[in-house]
Amino acid sequence: MKVLVATQKPFAKAAVDGIRAIVEKAGYELVLLEKYETPEELYAAVADVDAMIVRSDKVTAQVVDAAKNLKVVVRAGAGFDNLDLAACTANNIVAMNTPGQNSNAVAELALGMMIYMARNTFKPGTGAELKGKKVGIQAYGNVGRLVAEKARALGMDVWAFDPFVPKEKMEAEGVVVPATLEDMYKNCNYISLHIPANDQTKKSINKALVGLMPKGGCVINTARKEVINEEELIALMTEREDLKYCTDIAPDASSTNLKNASSLRRRNRVPKPLRLTSTPVSPPLPKL
Ligand SMILES: NC(=O)c1ccc[n+]([C@@H]2O[C@H](COP(=O)([O-])OP(=O)(O)OC[C@H]3O[C@@H](n4cnc5c(N)ncnc54)[C@H](O)[C@@H]3O)[C@@H](O)[C@H]2O)c1
Repeated sequence: MKVLVATQKPFAKAAVDGIRAIVEKAGYELVLLEKYETPEELYAAVADVDAMIVRSDKVTAQVVDAAKNLKVVVRAGAGFDNLDLAACTANNIVAMNTPGQNSNAVAELALGMMIYMARNTFKPGTGAELKGKKVGIQAYGNVGRLVAEKARALGMDVWAFDPFVPKEKMEAEGVVVPATLEDMYKNCNYISLHIPANDQTKKSINKALVGLMPKGGCVINTARKEVINEEELIALMTEREDLKYCTDIAPDASSTNLKNASSLRRRNRVPKPLRLTSTPVSPPLPKL
């Protein structure tokens, strides 16, 4: 039995060593494909493997087609949006993920990004506090719940919208549940996005919604870039210079919006996207 770890962005060495120890103890063979640059390299690597572990690597119908022995694919992360589930099902391949494993890191990052924006991207000068501000958490899942807990600890007024979680449960956890998503955008100084990227949510964070936010409103996106309607957000932020957007997910490199986004970024309203698990960001310390 062969187990492939296919990661364009490799795991830490300690993680790979841990996976190798478990796989080899079970009598299987571990095959590594790291930092690959083309889908063809992945097609070749999957040809004779029985199981595959990926991160955000795309397991497309072509990958599934090239993997004639594949029985199980595990996405080390939350969500299935990088796996073609229909192709997996059609080929009797079990698809699994690891929800919740990095939720705390993402929640801390979301709060860190709120502080970063409240403190004018850590430029010397004046800034604002989060205490007493309203944060609207869009989706109360593993990450959203932890953001709520940490935001409350900072003295924020926490709102949350998730049509799939009972209102009573959210209220019992000290969260204000608005009647509509629009109500949350109208009332909150910060919106923190934690929705999955699916047919309902893709491009749903648009001009009409974000435009409802009060003066100085800030959207924090640690969910997925696909949920943002980039064209509309850029158009809105050009009209409303008070609004802010901060994300750890770079816009699509092929997007024609990137040029516009960069020019907005130069004016410090769209800070350079920060990546959660790559280079740590160490901005200059403000003068006290
Ligand atoms: N930045 C990162 O590195 C990173 C890491 C982990 C997860 N994520 C992303 O963060 C998001 C949340 O992850 P999670 O682990 O909390 O997922 P989760 O599955 O635990 O929670 C998702 C929540 O979204 C809710 N939801 C679904 N559709 C909704 C809708 N239309 N409106 C409001 N709520 C809706 C569900 O009811 C659920 O409570 C996902 O997009 C995930 O891909 C990003």
